[in-house]
Amino acid sequence: TVEFSLRPRYLSEYIGQTRVKENLKVYIEAAKMRGEALDHVLLYGPPGLGKTTLSHIIANELGVHIRATSGPAIERPGDLAAILTNLQPGDLLFIDEIHRLNRSVEEVLYPAMEDFALDIVIGKGPSARSVRLDLPPFTLVGATTRAGSLSSPLRDRFGVVSRLEYYTEDELTLIVQRAADLLGVTIREEGAVEIARRARGTPRVANRLLKRVRDFVQVQGDGVITGEAARDALDRIQVDKMGLDRVDHKLLLSIIENFRGGPVGLETIAATIGEEAHTVEDVYEPYLMQIGFLQRTPRGRVVTPKCYEHFGLEMPT
Ligand code: ADE
Repeated sequence: TVEFSLRPRYLSEYIGQTRVKENLKVYIEAAKMRGEALDHVLLYGPPGLGKTTLSHIIANELGVHIRATSGPAIERPGDLAAILTNLQPGDLLFIDEIHRLNRSVEEVLYPAMEDFALDIVIGKGPSARSVRLDLPPFTLVGATTRAGSLSSPLRDRFGVVSRLEYYTEDELTLIVQRAADLLGVTIREEGAVEIARRARGTPRVANRLLKRVRDFVQVQGDGVITGEAARDALDRIQVDKMGLDRVDHKLLLSIIENFRGGPVGLETIAATIGEEAHTVEDVYEPYLMQIGFLQRTPRGRVVTPKCYEHFGLEMPT
């Protein structure tokens, strides 16, 4: 797909996450020098920051195959066993949403990660016995939006644990310029900055906004993304100056209007705006907290003065 072709394929093309990138570069180089599989890597952080992209890059840099799956897709221990026994030496297994692996599957993963071994129980009852199968050495790359939801035995088995951060405006500007170039659309620096500013620190959002702005300039403009064209298009698709969309507005305004700014519980907010609690928690809240519009307190979510100011509303006294 087009989406995939926008993704950088090597570390040298990857913009941002400088520390994570520099460190990974060393670990990859070291593993290659020794002719070993790279140690297992856990990538965590909010959605859209490049966890999947990075895992493909790691495989490319190592020159190995990648087998990509996700926590919820691996339903039974046998599903995981099938994947593991089909890997070639040094291959990378990417498990997205790894916090959603079920317990019995996780238990297969422990000896696999630690000893490259698969323990299989044969038979039932008193005559049951366990045999150990050797697996090819492999690298597990796990991705999660919530490292806190991983069990500690699983977490402890990753040699590299990297947290991805929201991107700066400058980094996102470069990402937008690069993507525009790949899409073959002309963009002025101010156009790229405008999209970057409203991309909530997230490349996936930046690229999506870029494509929508491109639609507007190609159909209703002269095909060039200027600052003004970007502003007009983004206003039309209701992404505001801080990058907040209609769902963010609904969420914040419902706390302000229905709960006097909070505190209010997560479940209540989710029900009020018709979203799942974990979607609110994993997708919407992290950025609202990052920009200081929302706080989590022991008694619930609270909207900040800065948020009231953004909407031009008075704080209740
Ligand atoms: N596209 C999406 N994320 C990117 C990144 N971090 N660097 C370059 N291009 C990207």
